[in-house]
Amino acid sequence: MTSSNDIRATFLGYFGRNGHQVVESSPLVPRNDPTLMFANSGMVQFKNVFTGQEKRSYSRATTAQKCVRAGGKHNDLDNVGYTARHHTFFEMLGNFSFGDYFKEQAISHAWELLTRDFGLPKDKLLVTVFSEDEEAPVYWRKIAGLPDSRIIRIPTSDNFWRMGDTGPCGPCSEIFYDHGEHIPGGPPGSPDEDGDRFIEIWNLVFMQFEEGPPGTRVPLPRPSIDTGMGLERFAAILQGKHDNYDTDTLRALILASAEATGQDPDGRWKTSHRVVADHLRAGTFLMADGVMPSNEGRGYVLRRILRRAMRHAHMMGSREPLLHRLVPALIRQMGAAYPEIVRAEALVTETFKLEETRFRSLLERGLGLLAEESGKLGEGGTLSGDVAFRLYDTYGFPLDLTQDALRAEGRGVDVAGFEAAMAEQRRRARAAWAGSGEAATDAVWFDIKERVGASEFLGYSTEAAEGEILAILQDGKPVEGAGPGAEVAVVLNQTPFYAESGGQVGDAGLISAGEACRIVVRDTQKKLGDLFVHYGTVAHGEARPGLAVLAEVDHTRRGAIRAHHSATHLLHEALRRRLGTHVAQKGSLNAPDRLRFDVSQPTPMTAEDLAWTETEVNARIRENAEVTTRLMTPEQAVGIGAMALFGEKYGDEVRVVAMGHDPAATEKLGVYSLELCGGTHVRRTGDIGLFKIVSEGAVSAGVRRVEAVTGEAALALIEDQARQLSEAALALRVAPAEVPARVAALVEDRRRLEREVSELRKKLATGGAAAEAETIGGLRVALRNLGDIPARDLKGVAEAILKGGTADVAALVSTAEGKASIVVGIGEAARGQADAVALVRAASAAAGGKGGGGRPEMAQAGGPDAALADAALDAVRAALAGG
Ligand code: ALA
Repeated sequence: MTSSNDIRATFLGYFGRNGHQVVESSPLVPRNDPTLMFANSGMVQFKNVFTGQEKRSYSRATTAQKCVRAGGKHNDLDNVGYTARHHTFFEMLGNFSFGDYFKEQAISHAWELLTRDFGLPKDKLLVTVFSEDEEAPVYWRKIAGLPDSRIIRIPTSDNFWRMGDTGPCGPCSEIFYDHGEHIPGGPPGSPDEDGDRFIEIWNLVFMQFEEGPPGTRVPLPRPSIDTGMGLERFAAILQGKHDNYDTDTLRALILASAEATGQDPDGRWKTSHRVVADHLRAGTFLMADGVMPSNEGRGYVLRRILRRAMRHAHMMGSREPLLHRLVPALIRQMGAAYPEIVRAEALVTETFKLEETRFRSLLERGLGLLAEESGKLGEGGTLSGDVAFRLYDTYGFPLDLTQDALRAEGRGVDVAGFEAAMAEQRRRARAAWAGSGEAATDAVWFDIKERVGASEFLGYSTEAAEGEILAILQDGKPVEGAGPGAEVAVVLNQTPFYAESGGQVGDAGLISAGEACRIVVRDTQKKLGDLFVHYGTVAHGEARPGLAVLAEVDHTRRGAIRAHHSATHLLHEALRRRLGTHVAQKGSLNAPDRLRFDVSQPTPMTAEDLAWTETEVNARIRENAEVTTRLMTPEQAVGIGAMALFGEKYGDEVRVVAMGHDPAATEKLGVYSLELCGGTHVRRTGDIGLFKIVSEGAVSAGVRRVEAVTGEAALALIEDQARQLSEAALALRVAPAEVPARVAALVEDRRRLEREVSELRKKLATGGAAAEAETIGGLRVALRNLGDIPARDLKGVAEAILKGGTADVAALVSTAEGKASIVVGIGEAARGQADAVALVRAASAAAGGKGGGGRPEMAQAGGPDAALADAALDAVRAALAGG
């Protein structure tokens, strides 16, 4: 038997040998197309190559592309399990020519590969062509020798392939396999073409046009080729089966499901096993490509897929989570071709388990309600919209799960009623918000959110993605267009821009549509929880709703923000280890140029605390450990010791970020830091580069703030400090290493010199005073104006004069700093004969000052005007003479 893995390898090998670049499948979430929910065919990743917008180093390519058709335009979810050829996840094999070969060679390659390498009998094959295409039939006759009876002309859009409403398109030619007369069904184009006899196996699209807005179609720069072959249905043919679910890969998964549930793979639960097998693949591949279950957008499609599978597992009697036990079987089948599912095994397994565990009790109770309500319905009755809504709102039943459950009983749901109940709930939510006081400013956001839904955040896995402008606001009001210079707020359907939250600042960057429009985004903020709003200026062109744009985060800036945010986690843990587990986050800021982290801590951190912490964080950085993220319930997260913010309201599921190794921390998975966090982080701790603490200080009672920098900002800080040091060294004329000793020596020198100057001044003053002492009222009085000697030295000089015994009274003034400062001292022999306080008061009054004070033997005063210094001395003289 030719296995699916062999088929894939043979296909890629054939085109590889024929000059095609073997290109990896692109992720399921398209990076280059805002209109698509998931990659739904091989050409999606090459869309811009066909139109000439993007250049690659090759002009021929071949891929095995992962595709999901569940949600959006292509949605096969409802048919899975009930038909032979519907899947939510499938693989498309394809070959592509970008302006290289065209129809003739495409047909020749396809024919050679099918009939020679895969050995299909020629008489089992027939083809369709677009009725207006005159060339393709000629080549089919020439190359394959097909008679006209087996070249069927189809006039409808079936043979004109379009990627979507817009994008590359062209006529196509499909190759069919005839299973033989014993299978019912007619050839393509006939009334009973939907039978199983003729199965389409390969679609060759002759890409010739690019479709723009309705009615416009322009030729592509060069005609190109896009082909698509569903691996599962082709495997069925080569493996002699009619049913894709009987081929090797899917059969292995069905058998794994049968074994895990103990239910016959082909018996009563045949459909359920198929649903489980298909949904296991879709779920695993979506998660490996970064989609996580949520209540919006792609995440909700995934959740719906998982919940559907869980209902089927439940019906088969599985009371323990089932899907996660089947992951190893899938990896055995497909892990070699798609290593991403091997890498994501832990994440996928845990997420399956988490989703199933959480949904199990709701599922049981919801199914109870459903059984009760559907029991009340008559034959073929319809479940009311209200009950379907209750199942949705209270028990988490997606509408399609309820429909799927009722399908077996031949019943349906009143979908209009369900939607009315949903609209009513939105109205109530809005009314409740209107009562909260923020109504006026937020009313406009409510309108937008109701119209366009939540924004999908792609920024955990990419920093550039296409999106569609859904709304533009100018001066707080929605507008239909905004031109150069306009300050705008822009909402896209999906965005890689992180909106400010959890202390991490919002992203900046560019939103552009080639020459048509360019918006410079300064900041991104969240409104109403999950509406991402980009604030910026239109730089050129016109921004308008409906425009497909490329949203590109400023990578350097985001890189620096990530480094600061990850460093904050390491800092948090290091502080707890140094200071104690009372340390809890009280606030944080993660910006491109710095981080700020506030923690509960009663006393200032010492220099040793800070040095230890810095060393510790840098050691974790050099460890260069992987940073991993997983989803958990808040309870689970806290259960394994992840740090959560007290009082913070978390959703049903939280992201838990793990960083660094610590084998001793067994209680928290052997990692160093484990925190609940919705922010964006580095891939490995080494990406932080370097960590430097800038400052530590008080914020409020019991809360300390640490400011720090990482990466380039840390380097800039160090370079700055080094520059200051070399400037100092230059000024001191020593080597930088000698600066500290030199500065200490200079400080010591200065102190010594100050002491010496002071001594000398005193000597100078006392020496002069002795000669000039005059006798007034029987007392020897030294009256001196000492010029700009510091006022604080006056007292010392006065004491020195009196001690010298050459005077009974010393009255001194200084004119330093433009003021008159006066000190009067009375020697021991003259105590009681003169009062220093009275004398300085007299002096002060003469110098324009007020009062003065001290003791009777030593007092001081001052006046504002140095020019009155001598008048102050005269006043002392007069007072002594008068007294
Ligand atoms: N893009 C083409 C298809 O999906 C080949 O059928």
